[in-house]
Amino acid sequence: MNKLYFIAIFLAASFITVCQSKEGSKMDSKLVTSQSFGTLSDGRAVTLFTLHNKSNATVKVCTLGADLVSIKVPDRDGNLGDVLLGHDDAQGYANDNSYLGFIVGRYGNRIAKGKFVLDGKEYQLDINDGVNHLHGGKDGFHRKIWTATVNADSPYASVTFRYVSPDGEEGYPGTVTLDVTYSWNDNNQLTLKYSGTTDAPTILNPTSHGYFNLSGNPDSTILNQLLMINADHFTPIGLGLITTGEIQSVEGTPFDFTTPKKIGEKINDDNEQLQLGKGYDHNWVLDGYDKSVRLAATVFDPPSGRYMEVLTDQPGLQFYSGNFLNGTLRGKGGKAYQYRTALCLEAQHFPDSPNKPNFPSVTLRPGEKYSQTTIYQFSTK
Ligand code: BGC
Repeated sequence: MNKLYFIAIFLAASFITVCQSKEGSKMDSKLVTSQSFGTLSDGRAVTLFTLHNKSNATVKVCTLGADLVSIKVPDRDGNLGDVLLGHDDAQGYANDNSYLGFIVGRYGNRIAKGKFVLDGKEYQLDINDGVNHLHGGKDGFHRKIWTATVNADSPYASVTFRYVSPDGEEGYPGTVTLDVTYSWNDNNQLTLKYSGTTDAPTILNPTSHGYFNLSGNPDSTILNQLLMINADHFTPIGLGLITTGEIQSVEGTPFDFTTPKKIGEKINDDNEQLQLGKGYDHNWVLDGYDKSVRLAATVFDPPSGRYMEVLTDQPGLQFYSGNFLNGTLRGKGGKAYQYRTALCLEAQHFPDSPNKPNFPSVTLRPGEKYSQTTIYQFSTK
């Protein structure tokens, strides 16, 4: 009798434990909520995920182009503001030619004339930027629906997107499988982890193309925000923004952001590189590249107090000062995005690396793993 009694108590206790752990995982999954983001005119459905954390700050990402849709973080008074340019729905992103928030690839940035040679064979990529190839081509990663998995076991909100790019897509060899995981922790730190493989030799250099305006007000320019880039050198460009292959010191030039400087301070200087880029649209050679995650850049918006640190394990950082925004692109709330109202900081390999033997290699072979970690850390000062 006693034995039966103890068995009954044991079973009841186990039942309660199972219920509790089920309830626990249910709560964890609430760190990520999902909803429809609309259906594209070609019938493809897009899902929007919201990543929550304990400070009520949120990140939104969607399955079209594994896009980073919004980042709402507090100013120094605790008011949440969206620090990313973007669109209200999936169709807005489908019509977008400015790459707002997308994961771009296979090759983020430019490849001269869309040509490269790998193992003695020449490849011709899609030409979509004058005579050059930009951000993976017309139908690159940004035009694809990625599959999404919510990482329910993660202690904080986390979603992994996957895209399998078939052999020959946009002219690239090999079938490439790329995973990009967005994780949003309680300290307002957004981590992007990329992991890629191929079944034949190829090149791979994806990046995240978020347009940031830390003021939370896309009507104000970024020219009074303070930027630091942890780089003593940059890669100068020629016509069509193609890197020349040189690695030049920033010292004494408008490209010196080694200490925080107003973005607008020298942007209109009489400088050939600034004229070629129509402002800043260059790659910086990050100091001390050793494949570990290091501080790459900081941005500070004095009126709101918002501060962003960018950390990455990549060798380069493209700083683009929104020079091609001209009021024709309409985004969230129908707002026309004006000249230099956002900046991009794209962690990457150097532009046109496949044609510049002195730049770090972007070749990926079967059996190797492509990986990238880039972190956007938000706080206030
Ligand atoms: C490029 C710019 C380009 C922008 C939007 C940036 O990464 O450097 O030249 O206009 O993306 O495509």
